[in-house]
Amino acid sequence: MKAVLLQNFGGPEVLYLGDAETPRPGSEQVLIRVMATSVNRPDVVQRQGHYPAPPGESDILGLEVAGVVEEVGERVGEWQVGDRVMALVGGGGYAEFAVAHAGHTMRIPETMDFHEAACVCETYLTAFLNIFLIGSLEDGAPVLLHGGGGGVNTAAIHLCKALTPAARVIVTASSKKIAGVTGLGADLVIDYTTQDFADEVKRFTDKQGADVILDHIGAAYLASNMKALAVGGTLVIIGVMGGAKAELNLALMMVKRQRVVGSVLRSRPVQEKAAIISEFERRVVPHLADRSIVPLVDRVYRLDEAEAAHRTMEKSAHFGKLVLAVADAA
Ligand SMILES: NC(=O)c1ccc[n+]([C@@H]2O[C@H](COP(=O)([O-])OP(=O)(O)OC[C@H]3O[C@@H](n4cnc5c(N)ncnc54)[C@H](OP(=O)(O)O)[C@@H]3O)[C@@H](O)[C@H]2O)c1
Repeated sequence: MKAVLLQNFGGPEVLYLGDAETPRPGSEQVLIRVMATSVNRPDVVQRQGHYPAPPGESDILGLEVAGVVEEVGERVGEWQVGDRVMALVGGGGYAEFAVAHAGHTMRIPETMDFHEAACVCETYLTAFLNIFLIGSLEDGAPVLLHGGGGGVNTAAIHLCKALTPAARVIVTASSKKIAGVTGLGADLVIDYTTQDFADEVKRFTDKQGADVILDHIGAAYLASNMKALAVGGTLVIIGVMGGAKAELNLALMMVKRQRVVGSVLRSRPVQEKAAIISEFERRVVPHLADRSIVPLVDRVYRLDEAEAAHRTMEKSAHFGKLVLAVADAA
């Protein structure tokens, strides 16, 4: 099969379209003919050599796919050849075929095309897991999302608006993305390049702070995040774009009964991911089906244009998701 491979670790130029062995589905897996996949920031980090695939997973890039079931493992009962599916994969998405655990595979609603479906599994699941299952965001509560124009955080805004319509959604963004984030329905948009977000959150919430913060900046934002976090609030850290090591005032955290949780989706055990996905199917997929949530496809590249797509992501020139179309039928 054709797949995007790495000459070695490095910049976008190391990506090339080459030949790889078509994967075989295990007994509880399905083989998917991939119609589309999408680019996630962790792909960039993996390409640079800092985020290896978990043991047993393909080392080809790509964490989510949309396509058609080509073959099913002998213990798979719920899927049949020809089903239109979207799946969370531990790797291997940038290819003509990928294997996924049957429980990590969801039916694509008839109202969605493959490009949109390729944007669901990594980003929406990440936002859903961390804001709702870990952060337990309640309707009406203030929530702070960083970098509102990115894949995970456009999904996060959609989910907050759909699942907790009265939540007060506060979003940081760079100047060029303020208008877009406002258009998604954020209640307060803070320009992180010119404003102090902790002060703005405090002002907007009458000094209470945000009940839930979804953060991927890490060290550079830890102190301000703790300042912006409400008493009893939860800060969920899903990335370290701004560094991995920082100081934390434990006494203050204790007195304010705050939780700081680190969270990754990719390396969770198979059954845990299946449980998250089944809850997601119940609570979120109906919104995708009736198009009250529509994934934001910024631009579609061909699979052999993965290098250009990675350059766009590294420049942060996208708003929403960058799709890689693998088959013409997409
Ligand atoms: N733990 C997990 O399970 C998991 C899963 C998926 C992704 N992630 C992490 O989630 C993060 C987002 O991934 P993605 O695929 O959505 O990437 P993305 O589309 O590139 O989004 C990244 C966003 O970060 C924003 N940003 C950069 N510097 C910022 C700052 N100082 N303050 C606020 N926002 C800033 C960018 O906004 P501007 O363009 O406006 O600067 C951009 O919108 C990454 O760190 C990724 O590793 C974690």
